[in-house]
Amino acid sequence: MDFSVILRTVGILSLISAALSAIISLSEKVFNNYGTCELDINGGRKVLKVEGGRSLLSTLASEKIYIPSACGGKATCGLCKVQVLEGAGPILPTEEPYLSQQEREKHMRLSCQIKVKGNMKLGIPEELFNIQEFVCEVESLTDMTYDIKRVRMKIPEGQQISFKAGQFMQFYSKPYGKVKEEAFRAYSISSKASEHDHVELLIRLVPGGLVTGYVHTALKEGDKVRLSGPYGDFYLRGNCEELIMIAGGSGLAPIRSLIYDVIEKGLPHKIRFFFGANSRRDLYYVEEFAQIEKDYPQFSFIPCLAFPKPEDEWTGNTGFVTVALDRDVDSGAGKEAYLCGSPGMLDASIKVLKSKGFTDETIFYDKF
Ligand SMILES: Cc1cc2nc3c(=O)[nH]c(=O)nc-3n(C[C@H](O)[C@H](O)[C@H](O)COP(=O)(O)OP(=O)(O)OC[C@H]3O[C@@H](n4cnc5c(N)ncnc54)[C@H](O)[C@@H]3O)c2cc1C
Ligand code: FES
Repeated sequence: MDFSVILRTVGILSLISAALSAIISLSEKVFNNYGTCELDINGGRKVLKVEGGRSLLSTLASEKIYIPSACGGKATCGLCKVQVLEGAGPILPTEEPYLSQQEREKHMRLSCQIKVKGNMKLGIPEELFNIQEFVCEVESLTDMTYDIKRVRMKIPEGQQISFKAGQFMQFYSKPYGKVKEEAFRAYSISSKASEHDHVELLIRLVPGGLVTGYVHTALKEGDKVRLSGPYGDFYLRGNCEELIMIAGGSGLAPIRSLIYDVIEKGLPHKIRFFFGANSRRDLYYVEEFAQIEKDYPQFSFIPCLAFPKPEDEWTGNTGFVTVALDRDVDSGAGKEAYLCGSPGMLDASIKVLKSKGFTDETIFYDKF
């Protein structure tokens, strides 16, 4: 075929495809134009006039009402539940796995999955109205291990951060490299709750991960980043004599904050902290915890290496963290357990704890 004919055909096809996408985008505007919708929150406590068409989660966020969300709206975390008394339509298949029968009866829904298409009546816990947004300067970025970075951020002048040790923030990444969109994920606060002008997160690189890729490859000291929070119900109850803390990887973040909280408040609890890692290169904050052990006799640090390498010259605990837990913790009497880390590690540890008499009322965790 003549080259000019090929060129003409390609040109015509491109024109047809451009015309089709213009028609699709126009018809979306015409048919999906939901106009202004009214969101009545908590029986008239707040009434918002919003443009319809976006998810309830992002519509509320644009009105500075921040609903917890760890997955950025992908329906994989189940954290973004709000009560929708009117205006949501039937439960979507993407919501099904996250809603218990009790929650369905209370009209709970995943706010990231529901589109605002008309007036709605909502129930939102009052404490979520106090969640703040911060635009922080990254003061330092530190490699804690080969795949974990500490991000220390300065809270802007005129604002203060107040949180319960153990809670998490939502961190927003910006477009970078080939990634064109902004995204956000949950990260536990690792800094002390007494520090109101800075906040620190420990972010482990997930290969191919959107937000961790941003932190590990694009973020620089001096950059401005957006955070919202604090969120979450992983915090100290303390109705006991002893606290058993268990973490792996970046799960150390909220546990560090909890340990400092107990120490700084002068609480009487004895603390045993079991930290599970593969080999020495996964250990961090070791000197700091060794110093705390010296300063506070009620605290002990038990690092466990599952696969120590010969060059590690490791003489401490070997095996999974559950081995040390089973050996050292005799019973659940007078104790509470706080766990943070991967689902596999947490499930195995919870099994050991329950065999010692811990119950759902004395075990608290954040899995990620
Ligand atoms: C309450 C809470 C607190 C959290 N705190 C921390 C924290 O302190 N530090 C921290 O590093 N992370 C923490 N996370 C996890 C964090 O929110 C992100 O899920 C994680 O950083 C991955 O984000 P991403 O955008 O890089 O990956 P995504 O782009 O979301 O995922 C990329 C791919 O990796 C998979 N993937 C996602 N997460 C993991 C994972 N953890 N391990 C293996 N594969 C994964 C996904 O299924 C997907 O296929 C927390 C999560 C929750 C719910
Ligand atoms: S934001 Fe994660 S399920 Fe809705």
